[in-house]
Amino acid sequence: MGKVQPKGKIKEMRKIRTYQEVSHDTGSELLEQVIEQQERLADRLSQVKCLVAIASGKGGVGKSAITANLAAGLASRGFKVGATDADLNGPSLGRMLNVSGATLVDSADGVEPAMSPSGVSVMSMELLQSEADAPLKWREPAMGGFIWQSSMETGVLREFLGDVVWGDLDVLLIDVPPGTDKIKRLLELLPSLDLLLLVTTPSETTRFVVAKSIRLAQEAMVDNIGLVENMESHVCSSCGHVSRLFGTEAATEEHLHGSVSLWGSIPFDPRLGALTDQGDPLITAEPESAASSALQALVERVSKHIKGGKE
Ligand SMILES: Nc1ncnc2c1ncn2[C@@H]1O[C@H](COP(=O)(O)OP(=O)(O)OP(=O)(O)O)[C@@H](O)[C@H]1O
Ligand SMILES: [Mg+2]
Repeated sequence: MGKVQPKGKIKEMRKIRTYQEVSHDTGSELLEQVIEQQERLADRLSQVKCLVAIASGKGGVGKSAITANLAAGLASRGFKVGATDADLNGPSLGRMLNVSGATLVDSADGVEPAMSPSGVSVMSMELLQSEADAPLKWREPAMGGFIWQSSMETGVLREFLGDVVWGDLDVLLIDVPPGTDKIKRLLELLPSLDLLLLVTTPSETTRFVVAKSIRLAQEAMVDNIGLVENMESHVCSSCGHVSRLFGTEAATEEHLHGSVSLWGSIPFDPRLGALTDQGDPLITAEPESAASSALQALVERVSKHIKGGKE
């Protein structure tokens, strides 16, 4: 049970001002700092040809595994690829791209990203934590930490994108954490997003959440929204029999695909999970597998988009 706050304290907490209310000089230079960071971000991202976010709204649907395979697949085709793990609380992209334990180097121009064996520049909160099992803790005010949390998270993401020496990139992939609110915040931070890939599974519960993400992105006028259906089927490794994993009809086509186009259908393959989780994305580790072919089809479509994207 939390302690009961004395009345005076509660009144004091209610005095916390909104962002608009501190739009004049408060002595904290908060506004100046945000504007300066935003300018650095715009400057840095002007060197990136194509900005792609991989999101869902729903958790555990394969966003990070798809990001890792997409990154490795694009890099193997000669694209200059960067990948940011926007999941600060449950970072997994660093492991999947095999940069865990890499030391980040601070240069005059910013932080140098880690380089994966597959040739992808990676930035992740994991690389800033000294112990593998350490949960992320914010140094927040003793009271009301929850109020500051989202602005601190957005601040870190802004730094991950703006203060990292990405150099000239063909594409920067952003692995977005679960929660439709995270998509909303990312779109506010990056109004110039070129492509939003929304990962779904054929489960009704996932579709229910992803439909909200689609609507959110459409209302935010995102130019290109693509759906990636992960775990859409299961291929038996011994007899090759293809079955649906969730027992759902192909309602996705009517329900979701009608409003956005389908950019990929990835089957469930235990090797995809096992290899990717150990830092060896399936797409390069086992290029002949059915799941790799499905991932390659997604890579192909994204490649075309990058080539036809902004110069
Ligand atoms: N098509 C697939 N076949 C087999 N395993 C998969 C497939 N897609 C993802 N996985 C595995 O499922 C697990 C969850 O995937 P992942 O971590 O990528 O999901 P996520 O959407 O990023 O989760 P979170 O919301 O927590 O960030 C991982 O171990 C991943 O390797
Ligand atoms: Mg993830």
